[in-house]
Amino acid sequence: MIVVALPGEEARAARLAAHLDAPLGAVRVHTFPDGESLVRLDADVTGRTVVFVRGLDRPDAKMLPLLFALRTARELGAASVGLVAPYLCYMRQDRRFHPGEAVAARLFADLLSPAVDWLVAVDPHLHRLPSLDAVYSAPSVVVHAASAIADWVRAHVPDPLLVGPDEESAQWAAEVAAGAGAPHVVLTKTRRGDREVEIHAPDLSAFRGKTPVLVDDIVSTGRTLAATAERLRAAGLPPAVVVAVHALFAEGAAEALAAAGVGRVVSCDTVAHPTNAIALDAPLAAAVRRFAR
Ligand code: R5P
Repeated sequence: MIVVALPGEEARAARLAAHLDAPLGAVRVHTFPDGESLVRLDADVTGRTVVFVRGLDRPDAKMLPLLFALRTARELGAASVGLVAPYLCYMRQDRRFHPGEAVAARLFADLLSPAVDWLVAVDPHLHRLPSLDAVYSAPSVVVHAASAIADWVRAHVPDPLLVGPDEESAQWAAEVAAGAGAPHVVLTKTRRGDREVEIHAPDLSAFRGKTPVLVDDIVSTGRTLAATAERLRAAGLPPAVVVAVHALFAEGAAEALAAAGVGRVVSCDTVAHPTNAIALDAPLAAAVRRFAR
């Protein structure tokens, strides 16, 4: 086996390689003055199981060099080509919400699947889709962050109340609450635009005094969790702790959370961000071992 880092993934790939006791290689990408890319594998892949590491946040520019690298490994005789994508993009656009829209979850999967023999991702946004198999033809293993998040909550938040901002987050909120031995509630969200979100909450008076821990898979604009924190403050609860699996943090997200009076923001390390506090290297390595030795 060899673990191969795409540009920017060197640190994560090195940690994964250490867990897997495997050597480390790299993909070098040279961008020509005209904007085209030269991709070169700096790794001996012939006859080996090749584990590429490429988080797919801000994916559009990353995708073409990734496809070139995956296909080149095959051409150079890799025994098997796998991808560890701690954040797997485009999973929210899983249906045609409005006429004429591209169903990007399926289209992206159609691009990636033929280039890999297997795939590992952390909590892809599976809400309407039952599993990655619904869109990916390549076999996959999904790593769940809930137990690592529950450990963090147990260690850092006394008397927590786990809060899912919307129906889609119910799966994470319930699992983290069970792991942390705490109660949980799930609120309701109406999204009116990219940065316009309304949150509706049931009567929360029974939970006054508990520290709300907001759990969601993705922080993008931060508006979902900011509106949730504001709603909880209005209900008389203390400042919220925010825990995200994937810290995408679009421009203005940190400011929106701060303005909503959020106390602390932490995230899993699937997307490199200053809020990263929950490491998932060990479960990622365990998932890779299911495909390769
Ligand atoms: C939505 O379906 C996801 O689970 C997140 O709630 C959403 O992506 C968060 O987006 P934002 O931070 O832009 O409100």
